[in-house]
Amino acid sequence: MIELQQVCRHFQVGDQMVHALDHVDLTIESGEFISIMGPSGSGKSTLLNILGLLDRPTQGSYRLNGADVAKLDDSMLADQRQKHIGFVFQSFHLIPRLNAVENVELPMVLAGVSVASRRKRARQVLESMGLGKRLDHRPDQLSGGERQRVAIGRAIVMNPRVVLADEPTGNLDSHSSSEVIEILHRLNRDGLSLLVVTHDPEIGGQAHRRLAMRDGRIIRDADSRSP
Ligand SMILES: Nc1ncnc2c1ncn2[C@@H]1O[C@H](COP(=O)(O)OP(=O)(O)O)[C@@H](O)[C@H]1O
Ligand SMILES: [Mg+2]
Repeated sequence: MIELQQVCRHFQVGDQMVHALDHVDLTIESGEFISIMGPSGSGKSTLLNILGLLDRPTQGSYRLNGADVAKLDDSMLADQRQKHIGFVFQSFHLIPRLNAVENVELPMVLAGVSVASRRKRARQVLESMGLGKRLDHRPDQLSGGERQRVAIGRAIVMNPRVVLADEPTGNLDSHSSSEVIEILHRLNRDGLSLLVVTHDPEIGGQAHRRLAMRDGRIIRDADSRSP
């Protein structure tokens, strides 16, 4: 489903060249649940941004569902992102003046789904996240765990095949973290591929494949399903 070969991402900072990703090879099959750990600055977010089509490699190849991403123009990239990829961030990134239903509806607004069907779908997704009583609450009227569940709802509302989460429990207390982890785990059991950057050993423990990064490289790739 996802295949990175010798991917590098360099940033020019002043007269320094930062090697945020340094010749990364990574193949991800559909339905996997992968955790990514590593010290700050090791390239985890850069890797997720490239996988999520928010950024492009400086060199190397990225094939997504068989297509060479380097050959897609910006509008085709946006189209792929919208159809196949959901993103979840540490700080939720919800729109403050929109309520829970409206936040979850946003990707469907961009995709041109009719008002009635997108409202129905957003409600259904929020109910499945245990937020049926919070539909018309704005982010500032929700707890951190509830906000992250709304954000996960927004990430999956278009039925993507993969969800990329960058420290999704980094701003949450342990109880809310467990709820969020349980939801992510359930989505994976339902067939979604899941990549989670985390410092949280609870997520690390549930993922069947654990990557460790350091200095822009994947230094460990441990798959508990392999013989
Ligand atoms: N937009 C950018 N411009 C310059 N340097 C960047 C940029 N994004 C990331 N970096 C650098 O790339 C390296 C990896 O960063 P990042 O992927 O954010 O690491 P992590 O998520 O593991 O903390 C760091 O040295 C960081 O400073
Ligand atoms: Mg990061």
